[in-house]
Amino acid sequence: MEKILVIGAFGQLGSELTDELRKKFGETNVVASDLRSDHPKASEGIFEQLDVTDAGRLAEIVEKYEITQIYHLAALLSSVGEGNPQLAWRINMDGLVNVLEIAREKKLNKIYWPSSIAVFGPDSPKQHTPQFTVMNPTTIYGISKLAGEQLCAYYHAKFGVDVRSIRYPGLIGWKSMPGGGTTDYAVDIYHKAVEGENYSCFLNEGTALPMMYMDDAIRGTLELMDAPAEQIKVRTSYNFSGISFAPEEILASIQKTIPEFNMSYAPDHRQQIAESWPQSIDDSKAHEDWGWKPEFDLDRMSEDIITNLKKNLVEAF
Ligand code: SER
Repeated sequence: MEKILVIGAFGQLGSELTDELRKKFGETNVVASDLRSDHPKASEGIFEQLDVTDAGRLAEIVEKYEITQIYHLAALLSSVGEGNPQLAWRINMDGLVNVLEIAREKKLNKIYWPSSIAVFGPDSPKQHTPQFTVMNPTTIYGISKLAGEQLCAYYHAKFGVDVRSIRYPGLIGWKSMPGGGTTDYAVDIYHKAVEGENYSCFLNEGTALPMMYMDDAIRGTLELMDAPAEQIKVRTSYNFSGISFAPEEILASIQKTIPEFNMSYAPDHRQQIAESWPQSIDDSKAHEDWGWKPEFDLDRMSEDIITNLKKNLVEAF
């Protein structure tokens, strides 16, 4: 039986992925870990406090639970990373080095590590950005993810570590909040809409970015991890595409259910980051190699999020 450690289990992706992994592998086979120990989810199953830059503590947890797979999700995202590039580099790189090293030493079965559309930069093609193309990222987050991708490919080639990765677009879900990213507006906006408020968007009209509904992202991640190793031909990280839209398109989609909702624009430093990224992604390699196919379009995602957030709001009263 696989024993799984999730690092960064209380983050936007971690909290939903941990729930799915527990459904799939059983409560007792999934250990959640996070830097924070005061989170409500800390009491939902096995939990260990972990700072991933502490290699000794990571080794202790891997040994204690006889871990066979790690999902290493802890990172500083694009916007906060620019506020403290030294810290972003340390957390994003040292954390990954520690995970790959323990995987090599203990011969772990599989590692999952997320990359991002942030590995692309202003020189990359903007539309249908190919799997293999000019990269040149300009954020410390993107630089750390691109270096991380190369390190994963190196550990696979040199030491046989079965590490797999996806370049996520902006992830949009209703169960958990993102923190410190440039695509976060596409989550915040739904909360404002359902609470009956208008939204001030930190990106400008016309700023299209690749995005994906969380349900698709989780399903795709588990499909990648389930695929036979020989099908995983890209050992850096797979392009992964769902929906692409600009702020005015998500506004129009929300207005189909909440017509009175409106939005204004107040672009900040995140505008520049967004403009350095692709607007849409070509994920044909993921499709060819392990059969990836997204299910949600913008309107279907909006309906699902609004229904669930409204239900939560009613239940809170
Ligand atoms: N969602 C991330 C960010 O905005 C991109 O990977 O930083």
